[in-house]
Amino acid sequence: MKLEGKVALVTGSSQGIGQGIVLRLAQEGAKVVINYRSHPEGAEETLEKVKAIGGNCYVAKCYAAECPNESSNPQGYTVQADLGNVAEIRQLIAESIAHFGQLDILVNNAGIEKHAPFWEVSEADYDAVMNVNLKGVFFATQAMVQHLKDTQRPGKIINISSVHEELPFPNFTAYCASKGGMRMLTRNLAIELAPLGITVNNVAPGAIETPINTQLLNNPEKLGALLHNIPLGRLGQPQDVASLVAFLASGEASYITGSTIVVDGGLLWNYQEQ
Ligand code: BGC
Repeated sequence: MKLEGKVALVTGSSQGIGQGIVLRLAQEGAKVVINYRSHPEGAEETLEKVKAIGGNCYVAKCYAAECPNESSNPQGYTVQADLGNVAEIRQLIAESIAHFGQLDILVNNAGIEKHAPFWEVSEADYDAVMNVNLKGVFFATQAMVQHLKDTQRPGKIINISSVHEELPFPNFTAYCASKGGMRMLTRNLAIELAPLGITVNNVAPGAIETPINTQLLNNPEKLGALLHNIPLGRLGQPQDVASLVAFLASGEASYITGSTIVVDGGLLWNYQEQ
């Protein structure tokens, strides 16, 4: 197992790619903190799946009002936090460290997108997207780095970005701006944090079958057009992303920092003349 003795926090892990990452890291022997904002039932489901594979985690009391997973037989740990709220982010990191005594791996996975033509985007939607996708990542990473500095230990930061840190996506301009920002955050921090033994990398998924895509998945015409653009001819699955995250989180990736690795079935650089 690649991650024995390591502790990981995966933000936004009540569903989709985040849930897949939690499972994979747990399979590799890591203790994992499951974080959710508004889907306690999804966090519970992630927890049950971790238990089913014999994952080595703990359940702790959530600081937020609701905590569905308090248990006298602890095998997982879920924490509610809104990744757009800096106070909650700091509390999330502090509570993860308090429960496991350390944090070695931070996977900044939580992300949202809002579909709207540019001229109709509201300030509230812009703020929601940028707060979760960029500000949340900035301050979660800052709190994690402070912990690693204080304890003089190395660490791994893995950001779940998107092919849209590179590729235009009309009607999702705030989302693209947040992912483009994430790309530069990663490059910058890779340099600034290297002397501390901290690596920072982006994983950039293409079209993965998750709840963020529900509308698209339910629209056969749009889905067909998208599949036509994917050379490997299928949507990705959360485990396609999770296996790369497990690798980047391990010692096998110790010389990789400041990189973006795409997991997209060839979508990003697909160009063909018919
Ligand atoms: C977005 C999806 C989109 C995919 C491929 C992802 O970053 O979240 O909505 O389908 O990129 O374009």
